[in-house]
Amino acid sequence: MTGLTDTHCHLTCDELYEDASAVIARAKEAGVDSMMIMCTSPTELEHAFPIRESDPDTFRVAFGWFPEDASWVSDKELAYLEQLAAEHKIDVLGEIGLDYHFDTSFKEKQKDLMIRQIEIANRYGLPIAIHMRDASKDCMDILKTYAKTPIIFHCYSGSTETMKEALKLNSMISFAGTVTFKNNKQGPANVIACPADRILSETDAPFLAPVPKRGKRNEPAYVQYTVEKMAELKEMDPEDLKKQIRANFNSLFQ
Ligand code: NI
Repeated sequence: MTGLTDTHCHLTCDELYEDASAVIARAKEAGVDSMMIMCTSPTELEHAFPIRESDPDTFRVAFGWFPEDASWVSDKELAYLEQLAAEHKIDVLGEIGLDYHFDTSFKEKQKDLMIRQIEIANRYGLPIAIHMRDASKDCMDILKTYAKTPIIFHCYSGSTETMKEALKLNSMISFAGTVTFKNNKQGPANVIACPADRILSETDAPFLAPVPKRGKRNEPAYVQYTVEKMAELKEMDPEDLKKQIRANFNSLFQ
């Protein structure tokens, strides 16, 4: 297979960066020739730049302050992000959003951080990658009010109802390896309900490895299993789905 797209991999996080060149070689071998490197710290970002520079047709780079960073991020960190955007150093702003799964003690700070980052994306016309966990209502309210650039709903795992709301916005719905899990009913239902021209594939590596690699460290090469499953669910030729996903992904950057 060629032409596979991984819209969300943490290639420069500690777990993957230690053998990044082998991980990239296996991805290429598996036919993954478009990857977005998600960075959650300045160090991860500094490591991502030379990777993109060495192969700009394959790699894009994203940076944003994660919801849990809201407990400590100050104006200084937002100024850092704004400068990255102003200097065109990032292709996508993210992942940003709301996560109430483990900690709901600083919801207002999370919301404020999400809004301020969306405003930066708006100023520089950058697509945003959204992390939304157990926070659909607040997250959708903020996006409806503030988002003016294309939205990627990363590792979408909400209800089909919320997905339909999300589809009313200028957005793409990205699915990860969780849709291959046997006990997952909602993910497959969402894949089926999502129009082909709004769908994306991702690994979220090193997390959430798809079946048959479930439980192992995830890496971009494994996006093939997720795309195969998505094609089966949508009763589409995998080749057609891959092409459609690539076109969808590229459309975010026009
Ligand atoms: Ni992620």
